[in-house]
Amino acid sequence: MEAEIKTIKVTIDNITIDVAPGTSILQAARMIGGDVTPPAMCYYSKLEGSGGKCRTCLVEVAAGSTADPRPMPKLVASCRTGVMDGMIVKNMTSEKVPDARAGVVEFLLLNHPLDCPICDQAGECHLQDLGYDHGKEGTRYQFARRTFKKEDIGPYIQLHMTRCILCYRCTYVADQITNKRVHGIVDRGDHAAISTYISKAIDNDFSGNMIDVCPVGALTDKTFRFKNRVWFTKPMDAHRKCQTPGCCGKATLWLRGDEVFRVTARKDEWGEVQSFDGKPGWICNTCRFETKQTSSWTIEGLTTISRHSVIGANKYQTLEMPKETVKKVMNGVEPKLLMDIHSVSGVNNPDIHLSEINGPANSSDFKK
Ligand code: SF4
Ligand code: FES
Repeated sequence: MEAEIKTIKVTIDNITIDVAPGTSILQAARMIGGDVTPPAMCYYSKLEGSGGKCRTCLVEVAAGSTADPRPMPKLVASCRTGVMDGMIVKNMTSEKVPDARAGVVEFLLLNHPLDCPICDQAGECHLQDLGYDHGKEGTRYQFARRTFKKEDIGPYIQLHMTRCILCYRCTYVADQITNKRVHGIVDRGDHAAISTYISKAIDNDFSGNMIDVCPVGALTDKTFRFKNRVWFTKPMDAHRKCQTPGCCGKATLWLRGDEVFRVTARKDEWGEVQSFDGKPGWICNTCRFETKQTSSWTIEGLTTISRHSVIGANKYQTLEMPKETVKKVMNGVEPKLLMDIHSVSGVNNPDIHLSEINGPANSSDFKK
């Protein structure tokens, strides 16, 4: 007789699900999906030990469990807190979380330069998204920001330490999927920095995956730097028979016309590499940096762009809309505030087509 798998109940933002024991609050929230899921800058489900560094995934635990329904006194990191039977969690329904998250974003941006207009990660940067969702327009920081010289770590990767948020993901990649790690976090506190040990080069077959896991623009692909904006390119799923042991050979080609500007691993809706046959789909450096001819790949079709990425804007039939959870969170009640902006702003008059106006639009264009 098969042993019965015991599940436990957890309620997140008024939505209850059954999960296996040992599931974290973040993993349970990802099972529900949509806005119920807290953002995660350092947790990466395919990297063992990741999480617990950035605090962006903070949530409120309104009841610890059925056995002990007391609320937890402080907000907790959802990526590192396991669910208990009867636990009640608040993310988007919490009054405390948005404020705390805005504080975390402010801290993450203390030293991070606001150089999105020249950063290769713009458009696919999790910190940029987080800044838009929770950030404040000003800064209270009055000291000089710490700055670092750009560092080449091997032939393909450039480290721009000034942008690093010390999430540790790249060190876990080096530890867990390459056969030697020559970089890590050196020094402490405000001096802490990612660096190679005495400027050694990272020359492992799988080192390029560090670029994919970096949530910001700290590690960039030297073969793609400043060549194009990601939203001008067209991502296509493609595969090839790769001979490198451990490489899944399934990638996303970022094309402009027929030219392949960059090759990355395929990402899922959480920005992590997709899994194939139960294994993370890491790709080798040969696929990533040295196979940039479309003829070397079998193109499968347009990449499905999930979440709210700018890359998908106006481009995709396969665009995956984010899961809508608001009604469920509000126990079936429709949101009260639905405003038709067309009725309050002439600028949004649907009869006026901006594309037909010569030059920049001005107020006289909307008085017609
Ligand atoms: S370089 Fe990127 S991946 Fe590595 S610790 Fe910094 S932010 Fe994280
Ligand atoms: S994602 Fe949980 S602390 Fe960073």
